Amino acid sequence: MERAAIILFSLLFVHQSYTAELDTISDSSFLTYGDTLVSATRIFELGFFKPGSSENRYLGIWHKNIPVRIVVWVANRHRPLPGASLLVLKITNRGTLGLFTNASMIWSSKSTTSRNATAKLRDNGNLVVVDQDTKQVVWQSFDYPTDTFIPGMKIGRDYLRNKEWHLSSWKSSQDPAPGEWTMGTDTHGYPEVKLKQEGVVKFRGRPWRNILFTSVDSSGEEVIGTNNVTINNGEVSDAYILGNSSVLTRITLNYSGYLEFWVWMENDGWELSDSYPRKACDAYNICYSYGTCNIYKTRQYCTCLDEKRFVPKNQKDWERGEWSGGCIRRTPLECKNGSEEFIKYSNVKLPDTENTWYNMNMTLEECHTKCLNNCTCMAYANPDNTRRVCLLWFNDLLDIQVLPEGGGGLDILVRMDSSDLDSPSISKQKQGEASIRIILLVIFLGVLFIGLNISTWLCYVRRKRNQSEPTEEGEILNASKGQEEDMDPPLFSFTTIANATANFSLKNKLGEGGFGPVYKGMLEERQEIAVKRLSKKSSQGLDEFKNEVIFISKLQHRNLVKILGCCTEGDEKLLIYEYMPNKSLDSFIFDKAQSMLLDWTKRFNIIKGIARGLVYLHQDSRLRIIHRDLKASNILLDQDMNPKISDFGLARSFGGNETQSSTEKVVGTYGYMSPEYALEGLFSIKSDVFSFGVLVLEIVSGKRNRGFARSENEHNFIDHVWSLYNEGRSMELIDSSCAESCHPPEVIRSINVGLLCVQHHAGDRPNMSSVILMLDGERELPQPKQQPSFSTKSQIHVSNFSSSTYTGGSTNITRIDAR
Ligand SMILES: *[C@@H]1O[C@H](CO)[C@@H](O)[C@H](O)[C@H]1NC(C)=O
Ligand SMILES: *[C@@H]1O[C@H](CO)[C@@H](O)[C@H](O)[C@H]1NC(C)=O
Ligand SMILES: *[C@@H]1O[C@H](CO)[C@@H](O)[C@H](O)[C@H]1NC(C)=O
Ligand SMILES: *[C@@H]1O[C@H](CO)[C@@H](O)[C@H](O)[C@H]1NC(C)=O
Ligand SMILES: *[C@@H]1O[C@H](CO)[C@@H](O)[C@H](O)[C@H]1NC(C)=O
Ligand SMILES: *[C@@H]1O[C@H](CO)[C@@H](O)[C@H](O)[C@H]1NC(C)=O
Ligand SMILES: *[C@@H]1O[C@H](CO)[C@@H](O)[C@H](O)[C@H]1NC(C)=O
Ligand SMILES: *[C@@H]1O[C@H](CO)[C@@H](O)[C@H](O)[C@H]1NC(C)=O
Repeated sequence: MERAAIILFSLLFVHQSYTAELDTISDSSFLTYGDTLVSATRIFELGFFKPGSSENRYLGIWHKNIPVRIVVWVANRHRPLPGASLLVLKITNRGTLGLFTNASMIWSSKSTTSRNATAKLRDNGNLVVVDQDTKQVVWQSFDYPTDTFIPGMKIGRDYLRNKEWHLSSWKSSQDPAPGEWTMGTDTHGYPEVKLKQEGVVKFRGRPWRNILFTSVDSSGEEVIGTNNVTINNGEVSDAYILGNSSVLTRITLNYSGYLEFWVWMENDGWELSDSYPRKACDAYNICYSYGTCNIYKTRQYCTCLDEKRFVPKNQKDWERGEWSGGCIRRTPLECKNGSEEFIKYSNVKLPDTENTWYNMNMTLEECHTKCLNNCTCMAYANPDNTRRVCLLWFNDLLDIQVLPEGGGGLDILVRMDSSDLDSPSISKQKQGEASIRIILLVIFLGVLFIGLNISTWLCYVRRKRNQSEPTEEGEILNASKGQEEDMDPPLFSFTTIANATANFSLKNKLGEGGFGPVYKGMLEERQEIAVKRLSKKSSQGLDEFKNEVIFISKLQHRNLVKILGCCTEGDEKLLIYEYMPNKSLDSFIFDKAQSMLLDWTKRFNIIKGIARGLVYLHQDSRLRIIHRDLKASNILLDQDMNPKISDFGLARSFGGNETQSSTEKVVGTYGYMSPEYALEGLFSIKSDVFSFGVLVLEIVSGKRNRGFARSENEHNFIDHVWSLYNEGRSMELIDSSCAESCHPPEVIRSINVGLLCVQHHAGDRPNMSSVILMLDGERELPQPKQQPSFSTKSQIHVSNFSSSTYTGGSTNITRIDAR
């Protein structure tokens, strides 16, 4: 009563002098600007807010106890309230919750008539209107999602109440009105999620399936997350549920069309754990019928599902990268009795289910028969191994992806003419070579659009919390990704590393890397380590740090430096590597005294080792990586002078067509950069080949490419090598300190290979596996085609060039402007 009086009082005077927190809105209490409705355990809060710098006011819900206010639901997104209006949220006498400005109602819950209702905000963030007579929920905000999903919400359709649950993005950060992006459920066939831009599908999730996530910890097995797929006549829906409600998460469709997965970290705030869609292969139906998108191939994204049994409909177009014809069967189907059977493809992202039929209680055998008996049935599968679903496709299969083994793909059985049955199945190679990105995608797509991701989140949360228990993390991550090599690097506690490096003493400093100092350390087990510490000032360093963790922990090769673990505590971000007693290659080849220690045999071994490391990065690793900053100071040497490529801060996993990756920010080191990269920002495995060529010539000659030309008139280093080569005087190039030990055919071969690698046109440069064959003398050496690049004509202008060099792996950031 008293409160009602106060509110009345404040209604009379527009300037409010009193604000309140309510737990219920009833016929005797209401909410006005500044007041909030708070959930029982104070997790969520409802109130009025102004988005960004807008002066308009909206009624919304956000997490209460965290300082960053992110609105997860908006009531009046279509009807902004101008600044000066008087606002009241109250229960009307018809039992609805109404938002009034001045005297008119501009928004209301569409609840059915009820004389006596109250509104409450539940602890899961659901605003509910409850009929006090029947105690039934007559309206809930969870039925009207805006741009955000929080645990407990559903996506899908309710046929009984004729409702659709979907997300639509805001228009902008200032305007919560529905923008151009939506994400909802396609229920034409078996349900799956589609992300659309103004009605056009841009990205597709996978056919729904139930998954339960468990995490093993010291106390035994514990369910940490699940999604709940419901498919029946009344409802088609998927909800996500977290075992531990104190872990705060949200999934937001942002106004640039990305679905972002966020998790609240006590110390770090909202952290983005994932976002979709990612790369080219995520584009909806990019390869058309029976095509599969493949980011590991260097030349094209699309291949036919099975090159033995399918061919591009139009071979010429296909070769030009025009995939819209898709693929067709080599042997057309005739559908005569007994002339057809099914071939199983495994690890597949099941095709678009728009044109499918399904039954929720059929064995796979029954499903097989059903499909076989209908000539228009092209394939069948069970999309959800927790139940007996039979799913039949009645069109050509669209938007398929062959996924890496263990990547969460499923089996699909595709109809074939019997004459095509006996040839061997899909090429193994394609499946084996996974990319971490794909795996994540798979994890994500594995269950609608959420599912497994929750477990990734939870690991993430856990990792942040118990940083001293690295093994458990590994196991959890491992289980969730289902891929053995996919372990995250072990975590070290900051204290351990501080102790190991005598508190980062200057005495232990090995050098300065691109994103901070590098220290030597000694773990208790007397293991020597090198520690890179991200400087707290460097924001650029953070990206490089993440890059390095992502890449190097997934790579294993004897010519790549090995990461032992990492540490992220508070502001501190550290990377721990195996210690390389001989530091980096540049400290040998460019140093008069040290260079005596590198005889020809060692040099040639180093050249070959680097080449093998690169073949691994470019072709054999699951990630397929372009290093982008290959140079002498990034080649570390172990005690036996074996080379190890280090510093993946600038590396990129390549997304397909090798000559088409490009970047606006050209980073790398001048002297090692290929012309197309320095001038146009185009990078490819061939830009690494260029850097490798420079490196070879440096190793042979003991001279730096960068800094060679001291005056305008002097030739640059590569021109110099080129002229010696042309005059048949290559041997003069060799570093005097190894001249005695040298083996002329190997030297000549190395120089020839070096020059082939630095040719101006990327297409003229060999790839790294041919380089290896050439170095081994197993392949005839072609002549370099023309004067190499960076010729005397000064084509580029270098600005902000920093000449500092570091030992122990580092990055010089150089910007180059084209003229
Ligand atoms: C409500 O009244 C105020 C003051 O008279 C006015 O400025 C405001 O525009 C009105 N709001 C609406 C939505 O009409
Ligand atoms: C509304 O419900 C409350 C709680 O059940 C009750 O105390 C109140 O008398 C009811 N009011 C009317 C008008 O029925
Ligand atoms: C799953 O959803 C159905 C239908 O919405 C519901 O009845 C059931 O309780 C849910 N299960 C869980 C574990 O939430
Ligand atoms: C849930 O998470 C909180 C921390 O957010 C933790 O303290 C609690 O132990 C967890 N509960 C369970 C059952 O895991
Ligand atoms: C939307 O999400 C993507 C992916 O996380 C991000 O790159 C982009 O900046 C986001 N856009 C906005 C407006 O937040
Ligand atoms: C198809 O062939 C099988 C045996 O080969 C026979 O039993 C069956 O009746 C045939 N069906 C039709 C429709 O001809
Ligand atoms: C599934 O089908 C079998 C027989 O085909 C039947 O016995 C069983 O009750 C069905 N289950 C459900 C859940 O309908
Ligand atoms: C085959 O399936 C299609 C699509 O469901 C259906 O329209 C057609 O009647 C079926 N034909 C037979 C012979 O069952």
